[in-house]
Amino acid sequence: MSWALICGASGDIGSQIARDLAAKGWSLYLHYHHNQAKVTELVENLATTYPKQDFLPLQCDLTEVKNVEKLAQSIFGGLDAVIFAQGTTEYGLFSQLPPKKFAAMLNMQVQSPLRLLALLETKLAQSKAGRIVFIGSVYGGAGSSLEVAYSTIKGAQSAFCKAYSKEVASLDITVNTVAPGAVDTQMNQVFSENEKDEVCEEIPLGRFARPTEISYFVSMLLDEKASYLTGQTLYVTGGWLK
Ligand SMILES: NC(=O)c1ccc[n+]([C@@H]2O[C@H](COP(=O)([O-])OP(=O)(O)OC[C@H]3O[C@@H](n4cnc5c(N)ncnc54)[C@H](OP(=O)(O)O)[C@@H]3O)[C@@H](O)[C@H]2O)c1
Repeated sequence: MSWALICGASGDIGSQIARDLAAKGWSLYLHYHHNQAKVTELVENLATTYPKQDFLPLQCDLTEVKNVEKLAQSIFGGLDAVIFAQGTTEYGLFSQLPPKKFAAMLNMQVQSPLRLLALLETKLAQSKAGRIVFIGSVYGGAGSSLEVAYSTIKGAQSAFCKAYSKEVASLDITVNTVAPGAVDTQMNQVFSENEKDEVCEEIPLGRFARPTEISYFVSMLLDEKASYLTGQTLYVTGGWLK
């Protein structure tokens, strides 16, 4: 049986990735930070629908890099894939962003994932078909004013994928980023309907993505037939920006 760890499985994109992978026969470690209730419900639903697979919740605050040691130790058996679907942003001028907030964002989306991968590399290599997928952002390629820290972080994820994919290719591990544009999730609930409409006017497909339209590409990258694609950032944006 194949096992994947989904970081941010309590999020809207992460939980959809969990449902898609479960439907394809994967057993899952489902990470969350605050939203234990959502992951508990997800585990119950998946365990009922797919009784022969296993679904295990894991809690971790990724803003502290030291916390990933315990997270890595919780992966007790084999591991075939790691997906990073956790993330938050801060809106405002970069010059006004408190350094502590930037450090927390950077830890959560770059430093902790990279340390976790260093700790899990041997397990992924033992899989002989290891897969790593980051949920990045189109802003990592295009950049965005008022989300400079977030854009920097997402660009770092794509740059890491490029470099690390070369380092672990001989271990048959692929490393890719799926970079969405705007997705209809709770992350965008801070915007009014008018503000969302203005964004939609800039998107050639004229709407936000549904989480399933992002998770589809994660499932695709985890497919055994996707063994020759590595070091890439797939922009899933409805034609927006990139
Ligand atoms: N929505 C978009 O338009 C969009 C566009 C481009 C890229 N993305 C990226 O897609 C990914 C998923 O976003 P989403 O839209 O699904 O957002 P979401 O529904 O708000 O989910 C955010 C996830 O991040 C986790 N998280 C927050 N703080 C954390 C911390 N300190 N430590 C560990 N995990 C933490 C949350 O866990 P808890 O809820 O359990 O606290 C949750 O699982 C993110 O990387 C985001 O940057 C989103």
